[in-house]
Amino acid sequence: MRIGVPTEIKSDEFRVGLVPGSVRELAARGHEVIVQSGAGAGIFADDAAYEKAGARIVKSAEEVFFDSQMIVKVKEPQKVEWKRLKPDQILFTYLHLAPDAQQAIGLMESGATAIAYETVTDANGSLPLLAPMSEVAGRLSIEAAAQALRRPTGGRGVLMGGVPGVKPAKVVVLGGGVVGTHAARMAAGLGADVSIIDRSLPRLRQLDELFEGRVRTLASTMETIETEVLAADVVVGAVLVAGASAPKLVNRAMLKDMKKGAVLVDVAIDQGGCFETSKPTTHAHPTFEVDGIIHYCVANMPGAVPVTSAQALNNATLPFVMKLAEQELAAFDRDPHLAAGLNVKGGRIMHSVVAASLGFDTVEGSRNFRHAAE
Ligand SMILES: NC(=O)c1ccc[n+]([C@@H]2O[C@H](COP(=O)([O-])OP(=O)(O)OC[C@H]3O[C@@H](n4cnc5c(N)ncnc54)[C@H](O)[C@@H]3O)[C@@H](O)[C@H]2O)c1
Repeated sequence: MRIGVPTEIKSDEFRVGLVPGSVRELAARGHEVIVQSGAGAGIFADDAAYEKAGARIVKSAEEVFFDSQMIVKVKEPQKVEWKRLKPDQILFTYLHLAPDAQQAIGLMESGATAIAYETVTDANGSLPLLAPMSEVAGRLSIEAAAQALRRPTGGRGVLMGGVPGVKPAKVVVLGGGVVGTHAARMAAGLGADVSIIDRSLPRLRQLDELFEGRVRTLASTMETIETEVLAADVVVGAVLVAGASAPKLVNRAMLKDMKKGAVLVDVAIDQGGCFETSKPTTHAHPTFEVDGIIHYCVANMPGAVPVTSAQALNNATLPFVMKLAEQELAAFDRDPHLAAGLNVKGGRIMHSVVAASLGFDTVEGSRNFRHAAE
């Protein structure tokens, strides 16, 4: 198959759809990989590295889209990109179509087959192409908190691990899923005093075994959250209710009773955030203060560490890229987990939940969506 990798054009995106190591795997199996010149610049992989891995370098995105049977990206296509897609092409990338009717219409009009990383499933019912970014965000949340806790950046002036004779920081993690587990692991590794609060008792049992007592596990009630948050130096918001906005677990009134200079890291900000006072921030201006409490609410945290994030993403996506390259559309019949990633095909939305979020009841209904939306 001819597989194309254009340069990401969404602002602040430094990752790339295929890293040179993935290109090498694909080339070794006889596939042709076409990479736009400079596509790897954000991860310091130059054209020579891609050529060495077996890629053909072309100058422009137009050439990549014109020549390829499958486009592998990171971010959802921008308007100029979906206009370049052709009916016989496969697009494999994050799409996040549900809140984005304009993109949905663009992809339907292109006639291309679009597979969304975020809806591909695995045998446990989890989302294996979202997990690597949650791992990155969870680990990064503690680095961000440690930085924001420092006095010169407005924080409380507490060292995560303390020192002999002085208490460490108290870190409270709301939500013990992928983000929460990795945050807790990093915080515990730095020597902090860590609690994880989750509403799932089976999950708390797993965490208790995993951390062998190094991290306190607590069931999620209003009282527990309030007691823990008021005593915290750092609170990491890592809850997720599938398909819904994040629940607001910390309200503004609680901030006044928190320790001054404490840090809230709202990783769940991409789902609306779990602190009432959160609003999305960027890597350029990651924090703001409300009532003496520092808020870190960067919506694309993995973007800060693209070398790690692009490799982590490729580790998860490459087996699926390989399957699509080898089996083309037949891959959907053979792999139900990849089929769960199918969002758009033949001018229709193929994913029932995405279709419903976009405002029509059935997948068939998407036939009329274009006209209804105009
Ligand atoms: N900001 C970023 O850059 C970034 C990056 C990756 C993920 N995220 C976001 O981080 C959030 C967490 O992702 P994840 O992969 O860890 O999800 P996950 O599904 O693995 O874990 C979520 C956990 O929250 C728990 N939970 C739900 N409601 C709760 C409540 N009321 N009280 C306590 N716990 C509750 C669930 O039981 C579950 O264990 C999501 O919103 C995700 O979109 C953000």
